[in-house]
Amino acid sequence: MLPKELIRFKEKGRQITILTAWDSLSSAFVEAAGADVVLVGDSLAMFIHGHSTTLPVTLQQMLHHTQAVGRGFTSPLQKHPLVVCDLPFLSYQCGEDKAVAAAGSLLKESCASAVKIEGAEPEVIKVIERLIRMGIPVMGHLGLTPQSVHNLGYHKQAESVLEQEKLISQALQLEKIGCFSLVLEHIPSEVAGRLSQLLKIPVIGIGAGEYCDGQVRVTADLLGLTDKQPPFAKPLIQTRELCIKALKDWVNQKKNSSKPRTTSASEQESDY
Ligand code: KIV
Repeated sequence: MLPKELIRFKEKGRQITILTAWDSLSSAFVEAAGADVVLVGDSLAMFIHGHSTTLPVTLQQMLHHTQAVGRGFTSPLQKHPLVVCDLPFLSYQCGEDKAVAAAGSLLKESCASAVKIEGAEPEVIKVIERLIRMGIPVMGHLGLTPQSVHNLGYHKQAESVLEQEKLISQALQLEKIGCFSLVLEHIPSEVAGRLSQLLKIPVIGIGAGEYCDGQVRVTADLLGLTDKQPPFAKPLIQTRELCIKALKDWVNQKKNSSKPRTTSASEQESDY
């Protein structure tokens, strides 16, 4: 599926589902679940690498994880979910040439067929325009943009009328320059709903209510893998507790049982 074909889902009123993956195990789950798109999100900096923000993850690490994601798919290239990879912090903020090299290497050396970029400041707009002209599809991302955590924090965004007007005009601009879809994170649901009506491209929400054209979730959140859940991502299953309990049971069983007696060679032979 081409990234721009997601628009057909919106036209048909069929919700788009996007789940993150970070390695071959998680991409196999997401593919088997039938998600339309796999996002190799830079949130893996936090889930997998244990950082407190997404900023430290490098382009090389994003490439490494995206390649692993590709190895987890069982269906052929034409049938597996569309793969979108986050451009990490500082891979696109320093100008168009650097961004083309970064995004190009992801498309060239992994199964990604598009990149996601946060923000719509004038410099970012120029970068996105150039990437699209160079044949690299771009998914936009507005609202809470975690790479700007030191400016925005992790709070809900676009709560004031002024901020909502800015968000709407940035979203319209992203559509105009050719983004194939737009992620809206942690904003009021009415604003996301309004944008979904205003834009032809699909609006994908996370913490942005139910009026979007699709939803994206961090798979680790849905599976309850960590003890730090964002307020808008309720786990579907308490996997962390289940795993700890299963492992604890195994450890305790081993600790409380004595080592079996080694059988002699003659006894082993008689076992056969
Ligand atoms: O990195 C990520 O997982 C994301 C989602 C929260 C949209 O960008």
